[in-house]
Amino acid sequence: MNAFINISYIVASILFIFGLKMLSSANTARRGNMVSALGMLIAIVATLLHEGMSYQWIILGLIVGGLIGSTAARLVKMTAMPEMVALFNGFGGIASLLVGWSEFHAHPDSPTFTLVAVSLAVLIGGITFSGSLIAYAKLAEKIDGKPLLFSGQQVVNGVLVIAALLLVIVFAASPNAYPALVLLILLALALGVLAVIPIGGADMPVVIALLNSYSGLAACAAGFVILNNVLIVAGALVGASGLILTTIMCKAMNRSLANVLFSGFGSAASGGGGGYQGEANPVSVDDAYYILEAARSVVFVPGYGMAVAQAQHAVRELGELLEANGAEVKYAIHPVAGRMPGHMNVLLAEANVPYEQLVVPEDVNPIMSSVDVAIVIGANDVVNPAAREDKNSPLWGMPIINTDHARTCIVCKRSLNPGFAGVDNPLFFKENTRMLFGDAKKSFQELVSQFKDS
Ligand code: TAP
Repeated sequence: MNAFINISYIVASILFIFGLKMLSSANTARRGNMVSALGMLIAIVATLLHEGMSYQWIILGLIVGGLIGSTAARLVKMTAMPEMVALFNGFGGIASLLVGWSEFHAHPDSPTFTLVAVSLAVLIGGITFSGSLIAYAKLAEKIDGKPLLFSGQQVVNGVLVIAALLLVIVFAASPNAYPALVLLILLALALGVLAVIPIGGADMPVVIALLNSYSGLAACAAGFVILNNVLIVAGALVGASGLILTTIMCKAMNRSLANVLFSGFGSAASGGGGGYQGEANPVSVDDAYYILEAARSVVFVPGYGMAVAQAQHAVRELGELLEANGAEVKYAIHPVAGRMPGHMNVLLAEANVPYEQLVVPEDVNPIMSSVDVAIVIGANDVVNPAAREDKNSPLWGMPIINTDHARTCIVCKRSLNPGFAGVDNPLFFKENTRMLFGDAKKSFQELVSQFKDS
């Protein structure tokens, strides 16, 4: 039976790897998800075949967990997805902590190797759990999103990390070291909180990707605790992919991970930048229609506001009407537009925007000066030219979509307020910019009606 279980684990691991690979392309992503889910099903069934299983707890867990998970997934709004992912990571972390703890409870005289794995599962799992809860609370605005900074913060965190590592050694070296384990759990929980509170709400998606990576490492350690091969492989895959995603996001913001974690970006001290003065040129739906009607090339640039307004269907409809009117239409997607990786891609896919029309900043920026109209839909930071022009701006150096280089730029949002990073945007005051004030869905629906009525 053991051989059969291990072969099943290998099959499951292969399916995980293929599933992940398929997730990297929009055309295969849906199938990739199914392939990975099949891998997980095989892994679960194989695990249930182990001897000495007590099924009543597993079934109870399945029912309770399944009910909570499916209800939460149904109720969650698309805009609240990052919060949900934060909670998922946190629960992954606490699960690993509990696996480590219960294994030690059952076998306190385990060999040193197991004890090291227990302590790592508990340490990383605990940090992931409390850190994720803070990330959730910041994103959901249950607590202030601003970085919470105090003097000597990094020294305190450094001392706690050293203390935690010493406890790992003490725990692994001395048999039956229950007090050391309890202390380690408390320290891990404190570390998670202290590591995340100095990070601003705008950086939470990066923190969540990093915590996702931690939850994988914690699961990997838990896999070593209970010697479950597929858990080790799956944990390592989550750990690596979370880290890759973190790196991609940092690159897209032109910031190092250390800067994200330790700079307190978004605090009063790090500066709001800007204070750009000038006259913004508002445009009515009627006038925006005439500008678009005459355009031969149009680039849509969606951002978080499109998600809030749920404007993606109206946007796609306008895109189709513009094409029918003879314009070439593209959708330029910035890697950190919105509040989670792939946020815009998911929304546009839901609205059936053809993938061939999606472009990345590197492709569209070089041709932007030949674009008739760039139309910004609830995006702000990712089109902020201060990132290019103002060395004092907190966004300085972040790659943006150069909508200000288009012949005309129409910005659709409700006000001149800054975006998530809290940084003013000089784009609104440029000569070739027209501000289409209002809710994105309403404005786009009105534009669609104008095209249909004409
Ligand atoms: P933001 O800069 O956050 O701007 C969104 C804009 O949408 C706001 O300025 C808001 O302006 C507008 N808006 C809100 N509701 C609207 C509605 N109903 N209709 C029309 N407009 C509406 O968005 P962005 O450009 O997508 O940038 C994303 C931010 O998140 C960046 O700072 C990025 O670094 C950060 N971030 C994202 C990620 C990922 S993975 N996506 C990761 C890390 C950080 P009004 O209030 O005036 O309407």
